[in-house]
Amino acid sequence: MGPFHDELLDWLPGNDEPIRPLVALSTIGLDGYPDVRHVLLSEWSEEGFSFHTDSRSRKIAELTATPRASFTVAWPELGRQLTVTGDTEPADDVSNARVYAHRAPYLQVLAHLNDPAFSQLALDDRLTRWADFTTAHRPGTLTPPETWAGILLRPRRVTLWHGRPDTASQRTEYSLEKGGTWSTVILPG
Ligand SMILES: Cc1cc2nc3c(=O)[nH]c(=O)nc-3n(C[C@H](O)[C@H](O)[C@H](O)COP(=O)(O)O)c2cc1C
Repeated sequence: MGPFHDELLDWLPGNDEPIRPLVALSTIGLDGYPDVRHVLLSEWSEEGFSFHTDSRSRKIAELTATPRASFTVAWPELGRQLTVTGDTEPADDVSNARVYAHRAPYLQVLAHLNDPAFSQLALDDRLTRWADFTTAHRPGTLTPPETWAGILLRPRRVTLWHGRPDTASQRTEYSLEKGGTWSTVILPG
């Protein structure tokens, strides 16, 4: 992926690890303001970083209009912060299916039920609908709903923040140059 690849192998869990990193994903709002929310980092590879969501969500409308995003995640106790900015595109069907199959049962159900109409129901109805759905669909039998959408973020800038208690923090910032090579600069933390 780039000169940061080996360090990320150390920082990020393998794609098969069930606990996914929670990252703040920023998009450009339709009104021009930044928009940010937390999502799970689904996978990462040489190609980029993927996230999964509902195709009817605001973030998908924003990424359709402006296919650029940034995410950041910190592990303060380890003195680490990772920030990635780049271009987005729909993730491929194979990875979408793989990620769905790896999601916890609760999140698989959520992908089916978490729509605008469901959110408007009274709590009793939401509990009943959820219980009915989970009774009708045993764990491991669900397939992704039509609205299951993956985003692939191809990085253009990757910043690794290194903090330490005994001296100043420092960042290593990698930028993708026109020829496809990565440049590196060291910045203050
Ligand atoms: C811990 C946590 C994990 C979340 N994971 C996801 C996720 O992986 N995908 C997703 O679409 N939303 C996830 N959400 C919900 C988003 O933060 C957000 O509320 C939702 O996607 C709607 O965002 P949008 O209206 O900007 O599209 C998560 C929220 C929390 C608090």
